[in-house]
Amino acid sequence: QMRNALNKLSDSVEDAEKRAKLENELDSFFTLFRRYLVEKASGTTLDWDKIRSPNPDEVVDYSTIQQQPANVANLAKLAVLKLNGGLGTSMGCVGPKSVIEVRDGNTFLDLSVRQIEFLNRQYDSDVPLLLMNSFNTDSDTEHLIKKYTANRIRIRSFNQSRYPRVFKDSMLPVPSDYEDDLDAWYPPGHGDLFEALHASGELDALLASGREIVFVSNGDNLGATVDLKILNHMIETGAEYIMELTDKTRADVKGGTLISYDGQVRLLEVAQVPKEHVDEFKNIRKFKNFNTNNLWINLRAVKRLVESSSLQMEIIPNQKTIVRGGHDINVLQLETACGAAIRHFKGAHGVVVPRSRFLPVKTCSDLLLVKSDLFCLEHGALKLDPSRFGPNPLIKLGSHFKKVSGFNLRIPHIPKIVELDHLTITGNVFLGKGVTLKGTVIIVCSDGQKIDIPNGSVLENVVVTGNLQI
Ligand code: UTP
Repeated sequence: QMRNALNKLSDSVEDAEKRAKLENELDSFFTLFRRYLVEKASGTTLDWDKIRSPNPDEVVDYSTIQQQPANVANLAKLAVLKLNGGLGTSMGCVGPKSVIEVRDGNTFLDLSVRQIEFLNRQYDSDVPLLLMNSFNTDSDTEHLIKKYTANRIRIRSFNQSRYPRVFKDSMLPVPSDYEDDLDAWYPPGHGDLFEALHASGELDALLASGREIVFVSNGDNLGATVDLKILNHMIETGAEYIMELTDKTRADVKGGTLISYDGQVRLLEVAQVPKEHVDEFKNIRKFKNFNTNNLWINLRAVKRLVESSSLQMEIIPNQKTIVRGGHDINVLQLETACGAAIRHFKGAHGVVVPRSRFLPVKTCSDLLLVKSDLFCLEHGALKLDPSRFGPNPLIKLGSHFKKVSGFNLRIPHIPKIVELDHLTITGNVFLGKGVTLKGTVIIVCSDGQKIDIPNGSVLENVVVTGNLQI
């Protein structure tokens, strides 16, 4: 039934080239869907007792590769790829997440471009920047990157696949034809990278131009800069895949971790962990580090694995609700993550990198951090203030700050936070200009009230509630 419905979907496209592309995508979708049903029926799960901590050669520390030479000639083999399929919805924005302004008028995309431009200028190299867009982000992104045509950088973009969502009840595809509403489709996670690179022709184009390694990272990780030591280490060891990990703190207990399983290095995500072992998984002493999604991948290996249909990444079923005829309908989308591909690559291993290489912006609390005086901007990269030591401050902003618009309205001037350890703000709070926050600061405004923190205030180890200061 699913196969017939998919055939009907591709028949709904008249243009031959478009139809061939869709058929290809729907075939890949069908393979994924069938594997999902088979795995669901057989109940195959991970055998917890077989999970081992990675061997010393499966996870190495950055300090051991720091002695590597920074061989600039290696840049001729490198391409940089930003995962750019995601929207800014979780931060209350429309359009691609990469177009949110994050620092001094620069968007995520501007910062990536400036970093690569600087790299190419500094080393007289020609590292290209690739963007993997989704059908949700491609037109806005294409429009935006036009402004860089005069710059010293080659930007290439390609689209990841567009898969049909599936009705949870009938297990049939939601779209009835190609032109159906956009919410009938979904981008199937960043694990789609390998197929999409191949299908778009970008993989062959990169190989033909002498590129051998791609450095992949989330478009919202401002710490993911090109590191010549890791590049050199990758080339020296001949590893086909390197995953950058960083030490877990209590704030990131849910991050995927590397394990040794049946003699293979694998990514273990919380979703795969049996309920009774979740606490163990979150134990930061047992599973010490987690995946930053900064990945160094050999392009020839990608070609080999895609062409032999060998990549089988763990399927992440994701349930969503869409509205049809005024009713909420449960739909399912099957996704994969590119970190899960690690087990298919030869010599794959993890490198535990400093935390500074993981600076994701997922919420407006993160936005406050990266906009603040804790960092300064150098050629598109954020550098931590040298006077700061210890972990970054823990910032928790309440629901009034969930959307970027609410955040900008309430915090139009970013406070000084170099000496801040912990900040919590909840409720209808507005910060004035030139505010300094130090130590632990908690500002709680009750419903129906408003708190204005006056211009120039210095708050140090205080709890502010209404007009009362303790
Ligand atoms: P996610 O939305 O998956 O963030 O996007 P996450 O859940 O915090 O991170 P992971 O998945 O655990 O690493 C991560 C990056 O992947 C891109 C997003 O644009 C973002 O840069 N992405 C996500 C795609 O390019 N395509 C997708 O289908 C999903």
